[in-house]
Amino acid sequence: MEIFVVPDAAAIGAVAAGIIAAVVRSKPDAVLGVATGGSPLPVYAALAGHRLDLSRVRAFALDEYVGLPAGHPESYGEVVRREVTERLGLDPGHVRVPAGGAEDPERAAVEYDTSIRAAGGIDLQLLGIGHNGHIAFNEPGSALDSRTRVETLAARTREANARYFGSLSEVPERCITQGLGTIMEARHLLLVVHGQDKAAILAEALSGPVSAECPASVLQRHPHVTVVADESAASQLAPEKAGVTVRVAGPAISV
Ligand code: GLP
Repeated sequence: MEIFVVPDAAAIGAVAAGIIAAVVRSKPDAVLGVATGGSPLPVYAALAGHRLDLSRVRAFALDEYVGLPAGHPESYGEVVRREVTERLGLDPGHVRVPAGGAEDPERAAVEYDTSIRAAGGIDLQLLGIGHNGHIAFNEPGSALDSRTRVETLAARTREANARYFGSLSEVPERCITQGLGTIMEARHLLLVVHGQDKAAILAEALSGPVSAECPASVLQRHPHVTVVADESAASQLAPEKAGVTVRVAGPAISV
């Protein structure tokens, strides 16, 4: 695992975008896993500045709410369209988001999982982390080998995401999320984290026991993980763990 510690959110965006740009330069038809939430936004902004040809890139979103009306501005389908597809110039036909409006969401989830495999798997998956350790919408208690499925959102997640909606009652209660096992099949995982409020959960995820109680802890079992965090988010990390390289704004300081 490699951890980059940088000063702020803009620097997180710059470092993470550089990593994604390198993947696309070496593989112009790369399959990217894209994430929503606030943390990835500076990454997309910085990536747009690279002016890469992303016309052959395919993308899969991590998750989607179940039950929002089609075209709801806070559906992840719309967020991905605005923040990723349009901003980066991806072909809309190459971008998939789970079908949260499907008549049979369970079936849509299984089909989504299959479509990721059919695309050859994800080359690089961008991730954020929730305050309770969730990645995508895999809440505490999610099986470490879970597949894409319908899930119920934790109260804490609905409260955190209420900022995007008019009120808590408007936040959907269910979602389709890629499973932890699905995410773990991506060839490279890129976790971006900023803010003091994420410091404790980031430390627990990277240095605590691997457990369904902290879904992001499963990253410890992946062979190729890059974490880009600002100094606040990284402030409780114990980098002396074997196999972890920490870089502060570039040069390695500890192995
Ligand atoms: C949401 C998303 C996650 C994201 C998390 C953290 O619940 N489903 O993919 O990582 O929120 O979001 P933020 O980066 O805004 O803290």
